[in-house]
Amino acid sequence: MSDPLAYHNGDFLPLSQVRLSALDRGFLFGDGVYEVIPAYGGKPFRLNQHLARLENSLRAIRMEPPLSPRQWETILKELLQGQADQAIYMQITRGAAGKRDHAFPAVTNPTILAWATPMSDEIPQPAKAITHRDIRWQWCHIKAITLLANVLLRQQAVDRGCQETILIRDGHVTEGAASNVFAIIDGIVVTPPTGPHLLPGITRDLVLELATGHGIENREQNLPVEALTSAEEIWLTSSTRELVPVVEVDGHPIGDGRPGPLWERMYRIFQSYKRTFRGLP
Ligand code: PDD
Repeated sequence: MSDPLAYHNGDFLPLSQVRLSALDRGFLFGDGVYEVIPAYGGKPFRLNQHLARLENSLRAIRMEPPLSPRQWETILKELLQGQADQAIYMQITRGAAGKRDHAFPAVTNPTILAWATPMSDEIPQPAKAITHRDIRWQWCHIKAITLLANVLLRQQAVDRGCQETILIRDGHVTEGAASNVFAIIDGIVVTPPTGPHLLPGITRDLVLELATGHGIENREQNLPVEALTSAEEIWLTSSTRELVPVVEVDGHPIGDGRPGPLWERMYRIFQSYKRTFRGLP
């Protein structure tokens, strides 16, 4: 098994050799935040947006960003070896304190950890999804490492041979357990507006931006759960899965049960944007 190079509080070392305190608040309380950044052609994609979201997450949990965007850039350059597509995982926790206590320690020494892993560049397989009540907390805009609800919700999909769980709060779609959700309704690309109940996905924003740039009508609008079964298409977006067509929800086919024409168009636009980013014609 590969053992990627990791960054840990100022040091570069193989990931398997990173040693963390058992009193780390990330381990004890899930007291920390994270980011996942795709890298194409050795370059982090939408880096400024990811670093801005990381800073927002940190401030939301009352932590000062321990590293500047310039410092992150230097670290990521070191971690990204070669040109293959990779996903950078980075997390910052409130670090270890002298004892286990829910309240913040008097002095915070954050734990900073990051590494990159290979990412597939294959066309995404059509996905099947289930729906479930959104049982998470009320601050889902924070990219917190505290993911137990997301883990349990996603596993429900896996247990039923599906790939994602679409979450429903008060009769409306929020997002997927690890993705944002889009529906095509009357030919219009619709996704729920950002707010405290969903993560402001970087891929979500890019898809909206690209749709607008290519004259594809789109709207940020609440999606009632009933809209899922009547939608012409459903898509999921995330940094690691990009843009995935959903062909079945709770056993009901979406459209004709195959990836739809608007997904195909959007997927081509997305890939072309990536090619330009890599510096390819
Ligand atoms: N998750 N919503 C949730 C709950 C997520 O966990 C993610 C991504 C997204 C999509 O955001 P973005 O486009 O910025 O990746 C939305 C990452 C990939 C993860 O936890 O691994």
